[in-house]
Amino acid sequence: MSTLRTPASTPRTTDPDWWRDAVVYQVYPRSFADSDADGLGDLAGITSRVPYLASLGVDAVWLSPFFPSPLADGGYDVADYRDVDRRFGTLDDFDALVRAAHEHDIRVIVDIVPNHTSDEHAWFRQALAAAPGSPERARYVFRDGAGVDGELPPSDWVSNFGGSAWTRVADGQWYLHLFAPEQPDLDWSNPEVRADFEDTLRFWSDRGVDGFRVDVAHGLAKDLSTPYRPSDEHALPLDGSDPLYDRDEVHEIFRAWRLVLDEYDPPRAAVAEAWAPGPRRVLYARPSELGQAFNFDLLEAPFDATAFREIVDRNLSASAESGASSTWVLSNHDVVRHATRYGLPDGTDTDAWLMTDGTAPALDRTKGLRRARAATLLMLALPGSSYVYQGEELGLEESVAIPHELLQDPKWIRTGHTVKGRDGCRVPIPWTTSGPSFGFGAVAPHLPQPADFGASSVEAEDGDPASTLSLYRAATAARRDLQRGEDLIWLDSPAGVVAFARHDGWRSVTNFGTEPVPLPDGEVVVASGPLADGLLPGETTVWLR
Ligand code: GLC
Repeated sequence: MSTLRTPASTPRTTDPDWWRDAVVYQVYPRSFADSDADGLGDLAGITSRVPYLASLGVDAVWLSPFFPSPLADGGYDVADYRDVDRRFGTLDDFDALVRAAHEHDIRVIVDIVPNHTSDEHAWFRQALAAAPGSPERARYVFRDGAGVDGELPPSDWVSNFGGSAWTRVADGQWYLHLFAPEQPDLDWSNPEVRADFEDTLRFWSDRGVDGFRVDVAHGLAKDLSTPYRPSDEHALPLDGSDPLYDRDEVHEIFRAWRLVLDEYDPPRAAVAEAWAPGPRRVLYARPSELGQAFNFDLLEAPFDATAFREIVDRNLSASAESGASSTWVLSNHDVVRHATRYGLPDGTDTDAWLMTDGTAPALDRTKGLRRARAATLLMLALPGSSYVYQGEELGLEESVAIPHELLQDPKWIRTGHTVKGRDGCRVPIPWTTSGPSFGFGAVAPHLPQPADFGASSVEAEDGDPASTLSLYRAATAARRDLQRGEDLIWLDSPAGVVAFARHDGWRSVTNFGTEPVPLPDGEVVVASGPLADGLLPGETTVWLR
């Protein structure tokens, strides 16, 4: 047990396995609720909405970064890992948020960004001020350039946001950044880096945080002796031999983290963002490491019965093997919202579609929302834990018409304005039917909201039994009664229908087709859309008991 500090508070129940079947709600703090009229959401705003989160029936809230940051990548560029950005509040505000959440039995997960810091982090400033070869530079990845005078980047590696992954500094050396130039990569072979992050885990755990989401977990170990790396995704080895991602040595880091997380009672939970093939991804979720890893397979799949069933099967076996519980995700702050994805023809390149301002191909909004509701209800019936992203409970769509000059995503800038990026899913959420920012705050929000946003607001949907908000509430409430264990038994069903039984007669049936099928017998617990007599309409899920 750590004796550093008494946590600000702990939840009323202290089940160490709470994360195994939790519904976790992701808050993107800049865009959730603005309490101080600066156009940016903040921690006090989130605290004021804790009763709303409780009414949603979620078990935990995951906060995307709120740490001091120049916001070059929405806060995933951290200048100080142990403080709160003044625009978002103070550490006292953070403690108040944790207390309020715990009073409602909602756990709090914070986002740790270990692959890179902000270029405004004290360490990076010291590195720039110090000489090549200095200990200050050794916390990052500085190298001499190639070419006659070192005028070429040390390798051909490209950044995830476009362009070279190397930037040159005044004295001629280059530093590595797998993301934006404002996000210099740390060197995780440096023991000082390791020790510092372990202190950060303790800092937040001591404040009562229940778990961590680990950003780019698969990127920390790098083999810098291999300058060549295929830039074509399909040519990557995916077997641990890629110089940059998912190397075997990375697991040693997380084994050390587990020892820190286990210093607490209950042990702190963790979930890896690790983009690796399934069998390798679950390695991050071993009990000796983080416990969970995001499974993005449903998020990447078309709305299709065969695809969904195969993904569920594959992931349940993989999780069972690793000793973890499975995770499920349909939307987050990095992808086009699922109500929009499902309203586009299968196989649509969403980056290209966004560049047409959402005009071609045409979006079928009704179909998109109907399918999103069906997919969500299926997801919430699965064993394991589900991660939901703020606004999906309102059926929000991607905002496609943000004026180009207001786009903030570094992808937009780094790709020379050829990829818009992720701002369309990060637009502040609507709380009321009208007002300057539909209840988000008292002034215009940092990203503009669509004119018809009020119709999808909490105020508009609250109390409407047919609304998406009511569906999420009904589903989480029923799930609280029903969710137990890891069991799932597939039931015989017609083509295009996915049906499975959990326990005590609880079944989930999804009709992925467009034509109605006979509704199986049983008491209807929740349905994602209206049921016609004796029939399960197309693109609809029902829970039966
Ligand atoms: C993760 C985050 C994403 C961020 C990137 C770099 O993928 O989810 O938002 O841009 O890491 O930190």
